[in-house]
Amino acid sequence: MKGVILAGGLGTRLNPLTKITNKHLLPVYSKPMIYYPLQTLVDAGIKDILLVTGGSRAGEFLRLLGNGQAFGLKHINYTYQEGEGGIADALRLAEHFADREKIVVILGDNILEKGIKRYIENFRKQPRGARILIKKVKDPWRFGVVEIKHNRIVSIKEKPKNPKSDYIVTGVYMYDEKVFDIIKTLRPSKRNELEITDVNNAYIKRKELRYDILNGWWSDSGTSFDSLLKASNLVKKRDRKRQGKIKGED
Ligand code: G1P
Repeated sequence: MKGVILAGGLGTRLNPLTKITNKHLLPVYSKPMIYYPLQTLVDAGIKDILLVTGGSRAGEFLRLLGNGQAFGLKHINYTYQEGEGGIADALRLAEHFADREKIVVILGDNILEKGIKRYIENFRKQPRGARILIKKVKDPWRFGVVEIKHNRIVSIKEKPKNPKSDYIVTGVYMYDEKVFDIIKTLRPSKRNELEITDVNNAYIKRKELRYDILNGWWSDSGTSFDSLLKASNLVKKRDRKRQGKIKGED
């Protein structure tokens, strides 16, 4: 399966930190933010990766990541998003790269405690459609919120005032080749973006959206100063635990 990392956008929620750089290049504990989703894909065995970025600092990604040698890769593909049309607009640019294969997509600011290999395996076995990773959170109104009935997702609402559940859509999505035709049918939302939630709702309509509940903590590090700070602290704790410095904590 091929992997796509979406790292465009203006990052206005992190102004002035993002005034002169792309938010995905900001530090999260000991590394630039973009390192984490890239490592997540590599750890899951994904070697064919496309990075979609944009803005005036797009060239810095090439300087930082090069051909991905630091991640054990031979090559990284890059493409450039003109303007800030949203997540689904950025994904549109991956059509040529995907070449009708299934893809796993991760948002460039999403940091996960644990690996995603088993979810990718689940999707590999799924004959068609899409698969998302959901997570129970305390502040669902900040995200795409799922409504589940009889173990199936029946709707997703983007940042609803009155969430129908505590389960939200994380920034890891798996799609079959139909995703690009679906994107072509989308209209911009109120925030003038092509929404990934509309893509997922189109798969619900086709009865082709499946899900897994993500194990371990998850952070949307680029959406607020607090989430950025929290992500650094979570990564610090995880890394120290991995090095055996903190014992007996989960
Ligand atoms: C986006 C999606 C939202 C999802 C979130 C995960 O939100 O639109 O559905 O829950 O990513 O990080 P955004 O960061 O664009 O506000």
